[in-house]
Amino acid sequence: MDNSKLMEIIKSRRSIRMFHPDTLTQEQIDTLIEALLAAPSAGNMQSRQFFFVTDKELQHDLARAALGQDFIAEAPLVIVGCTDDSIERRYGTRGLHLYSIMDVAASVQNALLTAHSMGLGACWVGAFNEDGVHMILDLPRNLRPVAMVPVGYAAESAEPPPRVRVESAVKFVRSSDQL
Ligand SMILES: Cc1cc2nc3c(=O)[nH]c(=O)nc-3n(C[C@H](O)[C@H](O)[C@H](O)COP(=O)(O)O)c2cc1C
Repeated sequence: MDNSKLMEIIKSRRSIRMFHPDTLTQEQIDTLIEALLAAPSAGNMQSRQFFFVTDKELQHDLARAALGQDFIAEAPLVIVGCTDDSIERRYGTRGLHLYSIMDVAASVQNALLTAHSMGLGACWVGAFNEDGVHMILDLPRNLRPVAMVPVGYAAESAEPPPRVRVESAVKFVRSSDQL
């Protein structure tokens, strides 16, 4: 399989923090949903839920809860990713504090890449007051909001930020006969 197109999408994706107001089509939204739900999941329990927020007033409230990151309210869609604590029944605290968050993170990355592949911009937002978001969306107690993703048509073109050198992030652990 030729992976060059996938690598191109992975490497050219950028965090977008300025959006045009144009709304998304139902087809685009359905594709994002497909991508979110197709992500890997611990024990395939899929202990995650996603809220698609298009209400401007609520988006402004979310932006305030996100320490005034106003671009959240500019986007036509904000996806709020939540962990579901029902995973604790099978995997205990590791399920609750690690697996469920990774479940949502895997979905978020799928959504970011899918948005980019459809010509849309998006940004992973993790800096927000969880209790505030919980209250704004009137979430049930079993859900914990852990990520927000504003999605829309980009009104900026962002430069790629520097990445660490391969040597500082990747270590090869080889047997002596591979050296
Ligand atoms: C867990 C997580 C939380 C983040 N939270 C925020 C945030 O609150 N606000 C924001 O503007 N960007 C946020 N980002 C985006 C990063 O700033 C961005 O990914 C990084 O600067 C690299 O840029 P790039 O996405 O264009 O490659 C977050 C990214 C991750 C993975």
